[in-house]
Amino acid sequence: MISILLVYRTTTGFTKKYVDWISKAIDCQTVPFDQINNVDFNNYDIIIYGAGMHAGLIQGLKEFKKKVGNLVSKKIVIFATGGAPYSEAIISKIKKDNFLENELNIINFFYFQSGINYEKMGLFDKTIMKTYNKVLEFKNNKSDIEDGTSKAISKSYDHSSSEYIKPMIDYLHQLLNKPSADKIKI
Ligand SMILES: Cc1cc2nc3c(=O)[nH]c(=O)nc-3n(C[C@H](O)[C@H](O)[C@H](O)COP(=O)(O)O)c2cc1C
Repeated sequence: MISILLVYRTTTGFTKKYVDWISKAIDCQTVPFDQINNVDFNNYDIIIYGAGMHAGLIQGLKEFKKKVGNLVSKKIVIFATGGAPYSEAIISKIKKDNFLENELNIINFFYFQSGINYEKMGLFDKTIMKTYNKVLEFKNNKSDIEDGTSKAISKSYDHSSSEYIKPMIDYLHQLLNKPSADKIKI
C-alpha cells in the first residue's frame, strides 16, 4: 500500500488549517517540521511538505530539501500558503524564487491562498508587516499591486478555503489510483 508523509511548518496556523483539510481528504501521516528527526523517510512513498510564504520564500524549504536529500525514488509534493491571491504570475514567481529548474521535474508544487493573522504573529514579524504597511500607506502614486497589497495587509484576514486543495488531492489520488476530488466529499 502507498503511504504518504506530510511534514509541515506553521507560525500563525494557516498551514495547519490546510494540513487538517488535506489529512481529512487523504490518508497520510502528519508531522510538524520540528519533529522531522523522528521520522524514517524510507517508510513512505510520497512525501509532502507545506509551509507559509515569508517575503517570497517558502518557510523552511531549504532545511526540508536538505533533510530529504536525494530521495529521487520518492514522489515529492510541496505546497505553500500565502496571503496573496492565486494567480499564474504569483505561482511562476514562487517557483522561480524557491526551486531550481531541475527540481521542478521531480517536485509537484501547489499554492493555497490563506491570509494574515496579526494576533498570532510574533513581535518581529508583526513589526515587519506594520512597517511595510506604513511605507505603502504613505507612498505617493502607488501601483495597482501596491494599492491592493496595502489594503490587504492593513488588518488580519482569512481567505483560506478547503476548495483550494482539490487540485492537490486529485494529483495524490492519481498517484494512488483513486477517483478525483470532485467525486468525493472534501
Ligand atoms: C513577515 C511576513 C511575510 C510574509 N510574506 C508573504 C509573501 O511574500 N507572500 C504571501 O503571499 N504571503 C506572505 N505572508 C503571509 C503568510 O505567508 C501567510 O499568512 C501564511 O499562510 C502563513 O502561514 P502559517 O500561518 O502557517 O505560518 C507573510 C507574512 C508575514 C508575517
